[in-house]
Amino acid sequence: CGIVGYIGSRDSQPILLEGLKKLEYRGYDSAGVAVHTTQGLHIRKTKGRIRELEARLEHQPLQGFAGIGHTRWATHGKPSDENSHPHADTTMKISVVHNGIIENHQQLKEELEQLGHRFRSETDTEVISHLIAQYYENDLVKAVQQAVGRIRGAYAIVVLSEHEPDKLIAVRWASPLIIGVGEGENFIGSDIPAILEYTRDVYILSDGEMAVISRDSVELMTLEGNFIAKQLLHIDWDIIMAEKGGYEHFMLKEIHEQPRAYRDTMLSRIGEGSETTLSEIQLTPERIKSIGSIHMVACGTAYHAALVGKAVIERLTRIPVEVDVASEYRYRQPVIKENTLVIAVSQSGETADTLAAMREAKLNGAQVLAITNVVGSSVAREADHVLFTWAGPEIAVASTKAYTSQLIAIYLLALHLSQTLNTTDALARAELIQGLKKLPEQVESMLEDTRQVQRIAQELSGVSDLFFIGRGLDQMVALEASLKLKEISYIHSEAYAAGELKHGSLALIEDGTPVIALATQEHLLEKTISNVKEVKARGGHVIAVALSGNMPIAGTADDVLYVPRTHALLTPALSVVPLQLLAYYTALAKGNDVDKPRNLAKSVTVE
Ligand code: G6P
Repeated sequence: CGIVGYIGSRDSQPILLEGLKKLEYRGYDSAGVAVHTTQGLHIRKTKGRIRELEARLEHQPLQGFAGIGHTRWATHGKPSDENSHPHADTTMKISVVHNGIIENHQQLKEELEQLGHRFRSETDTEVISHLIAQYYENDLVKAVQQAVGRIRGAYAIVVLSEHEPDKLIAVRWASPLIIGVGEGENFIGSDIPAILEYTRDVYILSDGEMAVISRDSVELMTLEGNFIAKQLLHIDWDIIMAEKGGYEHFMLKEIHEQPRAYRDTMLSRIGEGSETTLSEIQLTPERIKSIGSIHMVACGTAYHAALVGKAVIERLTRIPVEVDVASEYRYRQPVIKENTLVIAVSQSGETADTLAAMREAKLNGAQVLAITNVVGSSVAREADHVLFTWAGPEIAVASTKAYTSQLIAIYLLALHLSQTLNTTDALARAELIQGLKKLPEQVESMLEDTRQVQRIAQELSGVSDLFFIGRGLDQMVALEASLKLKEISYIHSEAYAAGELKHGSLALIEDGTPVIALATQEHLLEKTISNVKEVKARGGHVIAVALSGNMPIAGTADDVLYVPRTHALLTPALSVVPLQLLAYYTALAKGNDVDKPRNLAKSVTVE
């Protein structure tokens, strides 16, 4: 979900709406604002997109100099007007917006109901407003502190009350929150884009911290009320980067940004010869030499990048690597030792499952290295070492440039480790580095003419099921390509190791069933071609993805999408691109909301 808050001398409604629009990628099943007007505190909220809230506010505007807003992705209670934030206490004098989950809300609700509080929604959030009201005795800050002392869970909370309308109170525990500092006005946001139009000076709250902001002051303190000093950060992102820049959708823009993202992620990390310098990670040569095993944890698309990571890191370093879906990691009692290096991969750096897995690893004495795209994110702050992907803000829910930048970061990390461990010779590393350097141009060449992909997408938009197959690294890309297609086209698809299809799922191949066969791993080509033939023999319609010049595949498949030739380990960074485009154009042909697919959120901050 997304949070925004404003207090100053301007009308707050347009500022809140603008902020919410910038945060729509955080959740968009309902939205609302609370504003302190001359007639007291007023709330307008509705199920649906921000534009529906905007339409309501056009008819019934709220005028006032202090307000809070929220865009929701449902966790407790379905998307509905009542369940939308802000929530208020029985007397409608204390309003609250919240991200996260209050674990003990049921018990608190029963207690508060017995004390006479009347609840209007099914949300866990509403409990917070009643709890604050219960404790309020002419001191809002104290009441918030007491209320927060009673709740368990993960939260970012912002409070606006008619009792003390000259302030907003923000509290953070395990869900991001930032304070934007202006002149004669101050802002709150769950993410930087929410406030970037108004100020670039921000405080990033840490867990257990709160902020009391008024027009001209920002007081930072612990939940116990001890004042703290914090560094004011200056954000120098370009706001244009967070907007669509001429493309019809963020996803298409982000696909096209990949050459730039590749260059930026490699920048100053590889030199002329065979050397890589990852100066930001402080893993000493001794520490690297002592690594006994590597565990990679991640979710969704980042998990697919980690699967490529396992293959590449093992190949270059001979260190055994395990990959886990983050939400499973801590429950399987993994064997974590002090010489285990845990690599957490997360675009947003706020995924609750990934954070929980990281914390488990740290508790067990492992060092954690994060690969993330967001500076100042929770993952970045909690890890011992951080390797940033410089993809820039990714807005489309379906991840593209973040995934490929993660691949680049993983290649660099594997090179760096193997250089220290001496597990590859300089020549082999130099070959890989030469290959890496060529990737941005190769991606550019693939993006020049996308007509073939568009034609295939048109054909696919009418089908209800399809399959992706591949061997080796191609299988990892098949998983990602299949997820991409599912996320935005809503077509059922599955990815298999090409050799595994015959052990069961081949039963699903009928006349015309589309099968997308990745065949870029040329040392496995003959075997992959046999699998393609098995599919063809059952009537399947095969679209292959292969390196340019691969003739054998052309003779077997019905259609071939060619990608430029590259080092065998680097093919994922190229072969995924036409498949991202395929997912995009298929979803477009179906008329779907490409950037905001149903039921999904960009960043999932609940477990
Ligand atoms: C959500 C998104 C996915 C993403 C996953 C992990 O489910 O919808 O696209 O891959 O979270 O996100 P992260 O920010 O940790 O990479």
